[in-house]
Amino acid sequence: MTKNILIFKGSPRERGNSAVLAEQAAAGARQAGAQVEIIYLHNLDIQPCSACDLCVENGGCVIEDDMAPIYPKLAAADAIILATPVYWFTFSAQLKLCIDRWYGFHANQWREVSHKRFGILLTYGDTDLETSGGINAIHTFETMCRFLKSEIVGVVHGSLSDVGDAAQHPELLQQAYELGQQLASGREMN
Ligand SMILES: Cc1cc2nc3c(=O)[nH]c(=O)nc-3n(C[C@H](O)[C@H](O)[C@H](O)COP(=O)(O)O)c2cc1C
Repeated sequence: MTKNILIFKGSPRERGNSAVLAEQAAAGARQAGAQVEIIYLHNLDIQPCSACDLCVENGGCVIEDDMAPIYPKLAAADAIILATPVYWFTFSAQLKLCIDRWYGFHANQWREVSHKRFGILLTYGDTDLETSGGINAIHTFETMCRFLKSEIVGVVHGSLSDVGDAAQHPELLQQAYELGQQLASGREMN
């Protein structure tokens, strides 16, 4: 069956490093037969969760903004790829705003966003996962996936700074491509 893959681009830089990895993952997934949609978060009007808890009564989030069309896409996705730069030792605010709003699935015990397969694409300016704070982002995604009874199939990460750096790292491009293929085919990472 065709897999449905949703990719979030969490950087404001539309052609930045995490975005390039996201495009690679999309290419790999499409090559393996998946239907892929990429959502560039930076231009969207996504308000922070207001903790009104009306989602519990309403059956969904009551805020009328650009999250509304994303909810059914999340529910329909077999796999979700989170592509983000490390900002201040964790993932970007653009992505955090979006993920906070998954609270809107509260009414149904987060069922719509559970039992998914995840891929993580992470770029940072510092030399490694520890000093960059990338490790904090990964830890959050791991905790989140445990809560959502979901699985992280693969994490691709690298030390990249300027726009264009990702293109100089064929090994990262390849890893992102293969992660896309794996999410599309249902195969596990090695
Ligand atoms: C606001 C801001 C905060 C950043 N914070 C960190 C950080 O905490 N650790 C780090 O290693 N790099 C940090 N960086 C560097 C970016 O993570 C790095 O340039 C990354 O490759 C950008 O990804 P992008 O090209 O997808 O936007 C920061 C950059 C910006 C603009």
